[in-house]
Amino acid sequence: MASLQFGLSSSFASLPTASCFRRVSVRCSGDRQVLFNRIAPVYDNLNDLLSLGQHRVWKRMAISWTGAKEKDTVLDICCGSGDLTFLLSEKVGPTGKVIGVDFSKEQLNVASSRQNSRWRACYESIEFVEGDATDLPFSNCQFDAITMGYGLRNVVDKKKAMQEMFRVLKPGGKASILDFNKSTKPFVASFQEWMIDNVVVPVATGYGLAEEYEYLKNSIREFLTGKELEELAVQAGFSMASHYEISGGLMGNLVVTR
Ligand SMILES: C[S@@+](CC[C@H](N)C(=O)[O-])C[C@H]1O[C@@H](n2cnc3c(N)ncnc32)[C@H](O)[C@@H]1O
Repeated sequence: MASLQFGLSSSFASLPTASCFRRVSVRCSGDRQVLFNRIAPVYDNLNDLLSLGQHRVWKRMAISWTGAKEKDTVLDICCGSGDLTFLLSEKVGPTGKVIGVDFSKEQLNVASSRQNSRWRACYESIEFVEGDATDLPFSNCQFDAITMGYGLRNVVDKKKAMQEMFRVLKPGGKASILDFNKSTKPFVASFQEWMIDNVVVPVATGYGLAEEYEYLKNSIREFLTGKELEELAVQAGFSMASHYEISGGLMGNLVVTR
């Protein structure tokens, strides 16, 4: 299971050390920015390892739900190292335009070096921009489609992020928002937590990132269910919102239409 597109959205967590319990606060947006900068160098390797490559399938599904097509202008919010950004650019081709936006400089550095190290005509049309999902540096109705992968769970003000997506999308445009699913089924929720405790955290510990990945469990607990995400989208102004469960309910994808 569990791709490590983990989140750091816990408001407070007690983390065990050899001799005591240590409190690490990830209350505000700035704390999360620091944490994502720290995990940037190993983020892609861990995603592949912990999801056994499955995150690539989930991301392709997210892209297909956007309805993006050749020549479109599209946006990947919370782009991180750029997985969804690259996939989007393959959809819109060299005559389209893709922007990846993230508030972590280190993640954007990884994304840019990946862009430089692999050549495809369509990748030339990608631009990586530093910016906040709750205050996007783009004008109204600029994009035909939007993706957001494992980002919304980590954004402090989710309502504002949703309103910003609505603002920058063209009428009729779609946003596809992939993340862990906060399941309402007790068995799925328990299995998710078991995997985090017994697979994700031990593996992350090997990379010296136990604390960062400890937050994943709380971030899912504090996230919204599929139904709540649909309601949030409608409140932000979207005319349609549908949440789909993926991989037995471990992951979820919200599709919204302006
Ligand atoms: C778990 S990573 C996901 C990266 C990528 N989308 C993927 O699926 O592999 C979450 C990303 O969201 C970014 N992020 C979190 N909150 C943000 C915000 N308010 N504004 C911009 N980026 C944010 C982090 O810097 C991080 O790169």
